Amino acid sequence: MKPTLMVRNASVFKGCLNAGQQSDLVSELREIARIAPPFSPQTPYGKPMSVKLTSAGDFGWLSDAHGYRYSETHPNGARWPEIPQSLLSLWFLLTGVSRAPNSCLINFYGEGAKMGMHQDRDEKCFDWPVLSISLGDEALFRIGGATRSGSTESLWLSSGDVVVLGDEARLAYHGIDRIRFGSSGLLPKGGRVNVTLRVVD
Ligand code: SIN
Ligand code: MN
Repeated sequence: MKPTLMVRNASVFKGCLNAGQQSDLVSELREIARIAPPFSPQTPYGKPMSVKLTSAGDFGWLSDAHGYRYSETHPNGARWPEIPQSLLSLWFLLTGVSRAPNSCLINFYGEGAKMGMHQDRDEKCFDWPVLSISLGDEALFRIGGATRSGSTESLWLSSGDVVVLGDEARLAYHGIDRIRFGSSGLLPKGGRVNVTLRVVD
């Protein structure tokens, strides 16, 4: 599948998931959240993150006083649930790479939640892309280059949009400046869910 547009070398697939696919995915994510309850991690600097998160797959992403890292277990000690088949299919369809993702991070943005500019660099190898799905409320996504100081571009991501950060964009700085709380009816209580797929090891 071809991206709708490229923004700073990131491939953006607008409206990639239709309404039925979005609500099916929300049901699958609810099941993951039931098994692996979402939590608000502390940054290594001692500040709580404004998003809540949980994971599926062999590795989940955590942040605590020891730093940012991948872990084979939830903070409660249990292994993470499996990555849904629908997400694996979407990964192969959009990325065209040969290897399956082994980590699926699920971020929940409530009213006022945001994510500061950062690179995704806790993975062992940067040859594999990062695939990111937006569900629920619209979010202002900002992306720059591989250095923190460079110029950036912003775009609104809507429910069903998918962004792939690969090749030159793999180590691009990116973040979420704000969400338009209540702009989507997908989640009954409002808010946004972001799902990212990665090859971690
Ligand atoms: C992330 O960078 O981990 C999340 C990006 C997003 O929420 O769209
Ligand atoms: Mn990221």
